[in-house]
Amino acid sequence: MLTGIFLTVYYVPSPDHAYDSVQYIMTDVAFGWLIRGIHHWGASLMVIFVCIHMLRTFFMAAYKYPREITWLTGVFLLLATLGMGFTGYLLPWNQRAYWATTVGTEIAGTVPLIGDFILRVLRGGFALSGVTLARFFAAHIWFLPALITLLISVHIYLVIRLGISAIPEKDT
Ligand code: HEM
Repeated sequence: MLTGIFLTVYYVPSPDHAYDSVQYIMTDVAFGWLIRGIHHWGASLMVIFVCIHMLRTFFMAAYKYPREITWLTGVFLLLATLGMGFTGYLLPWNQRAYWATTVGTEIAGTVPLIGDFILRVLRGGFALSGVTLARFFAAHIWFLPALITLLISVHIYLVIRLGISAIPEKDT
């Protein structure tokens, strides 16, 4: 979050300037390469840690009564974390970002019946454009962080309220 806030100082979310602003951060801004590097690797680590955390709660059966809602808020946290990765990937506005998002949104568009609708909502039209970049930027810095903050608050509240689950024991 902190490195993301620093990145927004120089990043410009427009098709004309996004790519150049990232190059500027990497070459001209003092420690820009470090801030972007921590943001990039931190994002990958976050996905890995969320998966490890989910596996540990699954294998320790911590999802069972009375922690079903903790698990459910966790599922949404997982989706929101992946959403952060998906929306952030487009922001450098380079070839890889453009085509990865073209493919990703195309896949979302194959959902039966509402696929076209999802595709248009994600891209802001049928084609991937500056509107898509603006949407992904808004989702990446406002909508998803707000959702994640809310979900983490409920998640942690439930953990404090219910206590950490005991390690399951074998029935004898
Ligand atoms: C941004 C993502 C997440 C954050 C920051 C987060 C944070 C936490 C923290 C600090 C705890 C208490 C310590 C612990 O038990 O390890 C906890 C517990 C728990 N989390 Fe998460 N979590 C996240 C995602 C998830 C996901 C993806 C799931 C599962 C789908 C999940 C399910 C649970 C459960 C069931 C507990 C209760 C564990 C127990 O009582 O033993 N969480 N979470």
